Amino acid sequence: MKTYRIAVIAGDGIGTEVVPAAIEVLKKTASNGGFACDFTDLPWGCDYYLKHGRMMDPDGVDRLMMFDAIFLGAIGAPTVSDAISARELILPLRQRLLQYVNLRPMRLLTGIRSPLAGRGPADIDMICVRENSEGEYCGLGGRVHAGTPAETAVQTGVFTRQGIERIARYAFRVAQSRPRKMLASATKSNALQHAMVFWDEVVAGVAKEFPDVTYVKYHVDALCARMVTHPQTLDVIVASNLFGDILTDIGSAISGSLGVAPGGNINPDRTHPSMFEPIHGSAPDIAGKGIANPIAAIWAGAMMLDHLGERPAHDRILAAIERVIGDERVKTPDLGGKASTKEMTRAVTDALA
Ligand code: IPM
Ligand code: MG
Repeated sequence: MKTYRIAVIAGDGIGTEVVPAAIEVLKKTASNGGFACDFTDLPWGCDYYLKHGRMMDPDGVDRLMMFDAIFLGAIGAPTVSDAISARELILPLRQRLLQYVNLRPMRLLTGIRSPLAGRGPADIDMICVRENSEGEYCGLGGRVHAGTPAETAVQTGVFTRQGIERIARYAFRVAQSRPRKMLASATKSNALQHAMVFWDEVVAGVAKEFPDVTYVKYHVDALCARMVTHPQTLDVIVASNLFGDILTDIGSAISGSLGVAPGGNINPDRTHPSMFEPIHGSAPDIAGKGIANPIAAIWAGAMMLDHLGERPAHDRILAAIERVIGDERVKTPDLGGKASTKEMTRAVTDALA
């Protein structure tokens, strides 16, 4: 039987609640689908940091190379500075495992109310292809003259032709595979005359390879507004690392709840394992209460199976999610209900049958 080796980093806060929930769904889907997933827990995260002084083992990246994929919960805790927890775990993994695509569907599911008045599922169905390896997140920069009036910080954005070309090409292919075949590129070339003028030039060059895709560029501020005022005009969005981070929080907010939105950190060349995660964080305010919405993690798990080549299994999980959400009987508090994580998970596993 085909067996996939999955590294599991449940991480912090509600990560440790939604990951087991999603694994339950993945196991059931696998046994129905004639394949298996072999899950290996890695204890990395903020508690690990407090004990060992580092977010993950020094040979962490090498060890992850042995797996077919990585399933991540959430990283972050009030006890550890966010700059440490993100910069020493999530961001190095995305960079060192060459996961240069961050793929984030933003869809209003039937049964969820958008905070945008009068909008339904037909209006909000987009997917963001976020550059995940360079740009504003490259990590280059420094700080000098600490504690003096001359204290200075520089944080540099790095944009390479190779980096822009590959993310644009991936985004055009995603657009090509969707019925509307539309791609919006987030730019800011009116103010960032080096990086974003370059971004526009390279994306426009790649656009020539995809004459069947309608390509439009928007300044990112206007695109933020458009997501709120005219979400129905957007299909696929391609964006730099920071712009994509911001746009996808808007996208998941207008889709009704951060508790539903999944993401994949993908290495399209498959030279290194890809990593799948709910896009919500560790939510310390509700951690330990058993009420976190497991849907984002379950959906991220489905994306992982799709990446591993199990498209029918992905589709079965999505159908189960849609059935449970559409039915509106079982809802966690983020969706206005009273169900627990366990009840919601149970509803999804029952709907898989
Ligand atoms: C995300 C998160 C991360 C990011 C943080 C934790 C560094 O907000 O995955 O969207 O900014 O990429
Ligand atoms: Mg974010």
